[in-house]
Amino acid sequence: MSLFTRNRRPFRDREGEAMVEQLLIAWTRACEGAELVRTVDTVTGPTVIPPKLVDITLGPPTVLIAELQPGMIPADVVALGPRIAPHMNAYGIRVEPIGHRHVRVTLIADDPLDTLVELRAGRGVLLGADEAGAAIRTEPADLPHAIVQGTTRSGKSVWTYSLLAQLVARDDVLIAGCDPTGLLFRPFAATRHNEWQSSGLADVDAHEKALRRVVEAMDDRIRELPDDRDTLDVTPARPLLVVVLEEYPGLLRVLDAGKSRGDDPGARVRALVSRLLAEGHKAGIRVVILAQRAEASVVGALERAQCSLRISFRVDSRTSCELLHPGTDPAIADAHTTALPGVALMSRPGHNLTRFRAPFLGGYREYVHAIRDAS
Ligand SMILES: Nc1ncnc2c1ncn2[C@@H]1O[C@H](COP(=O)(O)OP(=O)(O)O)[C@@H](O)[C@H]1O
Ligand SMILES: [Mg+2]
Repeated sequence: MSLFTRNRRPFRDREGEAMVEQLLIAWTRACEGAELVRTVDTVTGPTVIPPKLVDITLGPPTVLIAELQPGMIPADVVALGPRIAPHMNAYGIRVEPIGHRHVRVTLIADDPLDTLVELRAGRGVLLGADEAGAAIRTEPADLPHAIVQGTTRSGKSVWTYSLLAQLVARDDVLIAGCDPTGLLFRPFAATRHNEWQSSGLADVDAHEKALRRVVEAMDDRIRELPDDRDTLDVTPARPLLVVVLEEYPGLLRVLDAGKSRGDDPGARVRALVSRLLAEGHKAGIRVVILAQRAEASVVGALERAQCSLRISFRVDSRTSCELLHPGTDPAIADAHTTALPGVALMSRPGHNLTRFRAPFLGGYREYVHAIRDAS
């Protein structure tokens, strides 16, 4: 016997009955369309049977309990969620197993990432908020090397503004790196970070020099490692060096254009970055690469593999998504090609692929003030 309730109370009204009727029809059609069905042969030919709805609680949120057909597992429903949800008039569905044969399917009405995420103080640094509204935070020392990709105006720089605004408040962090745009590091001009940074394209060689300086610091630190230690503790005296490579492909393009017989500045910069990625972690150095697309000409497979924090803001195609997040559901990857600015996918060790929204600290003006006030 099916039991239909509204907000956990039994209902008898007509409107409720009509809604339940619509949900039953929509569920059957959506499952058929998504091929979440078992096919059986009958005298009149093959028939498809979707998972049976055994309970409906009208919401919001509307919650369905479905009995899986033989051979189905909850993961099948999760995998087909992006295909089923739109036909249930929902933005998405959340699927939780109940025992082995049932799933609880919650219809999510709106994209939970539609609203702005403010930059709030708290433990460590805030990287973003996930679809359940939970803050994604990390201690700076726990940050791995990171690669962030996304088309123009997808939210890479704004995410970086938030990250740097939080990091500069710490006396055990130094912001180093290369900023060919000149915008990211401009507010750092009169700060202790400035000597580790290169800005703009007026002096192209400055970028190689800045990176060489970090590599030298890395070599010194590794040499000073005590015999019984394989990683350095980060302290104000020996701060975490966060090496930000803003618009890294743009920098490489300029360097490669300056290549001549016997001189290859692009190759030298790639080699320096490659060393920082391979050896920097144990010496308190983290690299954050920003690119429109994390393609092989920018970061080789070996370098990409060293970046265990991977973030994709809106990308131009499913294949771009696959570059950083192999095995992503094609429906999720396709949907991500139209993501709002600030909405991104994140892969990191020990976590499933997370869709999140980056914190927004305001416009460029607020960023400049945040850096100047903290320094
Ligand atoms: N997290 C966010 N929340 C709200 N709006 C954002 C967010 N990130 C970006 N935007 C909007 O998108 C615009 C472009 O973002 P930006 O970071 O400059 O893109 P990119 O560096 O990828 O080219 C910003 O000016 C802002 O209006
Ligand atoms: Mg940018």
